[in-house]
Amino acid sequence: MERKIGETLLGVEHISLSFGGVKALTDISFNIREKEVFAIIGPNGAGKTSMLNVINGFYHPQQGEIHFKGLHRKQMRPHEAAVQGIARTFQNVALFKGMSTLNNIMAGRNLKMKTNLFWQALYYGPARTEEMINREYVEDIIDFLEIQSIRRTPVGKLPYGLQKRVELGRALAMAPELLLLDEPMAGMNIEEKQDMCRFIIDINEQYGTTIVLIEHDMGVVMDLSERLIVLDYGRKIAEGTPDEIRGNQVVIDAYLGVAHTN
Ligand SMILES: Nc1ncnc2c1ncn2[C@@H]1O[C@H](COP(=O)(O)OP(=O)(O)OP(=O)(O)O)[C@@H](O)[C@H]1O
Ligand SMILES: [Mg+2]
Repeated sequence: MERKIGETLLGVEHISLSFGGVKALTDISFNIREKEVFAIIGPNGAGKTSMLNVINGFYHPQQGEIHFKGLHRKQMRPHEAAVQGIARTFQNVALFKGMSTLNNIMAGRNLKMKTNLFWQALYYGPARTEEMINREYVEDIIDFLEIQSIRRTPVGKLPYGLQKRVELGRALAMAPELLLLDEPMAGMNIEEKQDMCRFIIDINEQYGTTIVLIEHDMGVVMDLSERLIVLDYGRKIAEGTPDEIRGNQVVIDAYLGVAHTN
């Protein structure tokens, strides 16, 4: 697979996060480069979701800093992350269940585009309304994700695998530079997983989006990711390429030998 990996897009520096007495993250540092697919793995409760929540401003760490596109910050709110170009999907699908596929994806689009009117006017000219432009963008995503047939269906009526796909669509509608995917294939059958893998690869290659992937399926992680880190009890215990991680005894002891129940 050919990718042009660039400069550091996101830097995580000495992040520590605790909830009362529970240390969710302890002194975590790593860098993610432009256009990379970067995986975070580790056993249940290792701190993977907490790490994503710190990156997009859901959780505020007690120590450490994040820098994104060269801007350092200690804290950020989720909507600011969205505006800056960070979008995510959730471990447990978080969609508006009563709303259609189309409207859920439009919701992601609206969140992003309020800030980008100037750019739109330059690019598309003043004759086209914001609504039309957003519609077109969303229709492209629906085509890309091959979900035309469910565009009017309330997402609560869709099977879980398709809901995950719609949620991916909503994140894409924000035209993110950095896409955070929290177990995008959990609960899917093999065919759905293969589709999701293909979409992740295509997003990375066609849109040039940098991707952070949390995933328990080691085959998927090894196939998709350029580099990865391994968390265990809130600590980073390893970092490297899939080949390097595969042979790492500490990782094998902490994680690969442990049966996962998802
Ligand atoms: N909002 C919260 N309040 C209290 N404790 C939390 C909170 N969020 C996470 N934790 C704790 O932080 C630790 C790490 O949890 P986290 O959800 O980040 O793990 P994870 O690696 O994503 O696990 P899983 O594979 O099960 O999704 C756990 O001990 C968890 O109970
Ligand atoms: Mg998690």
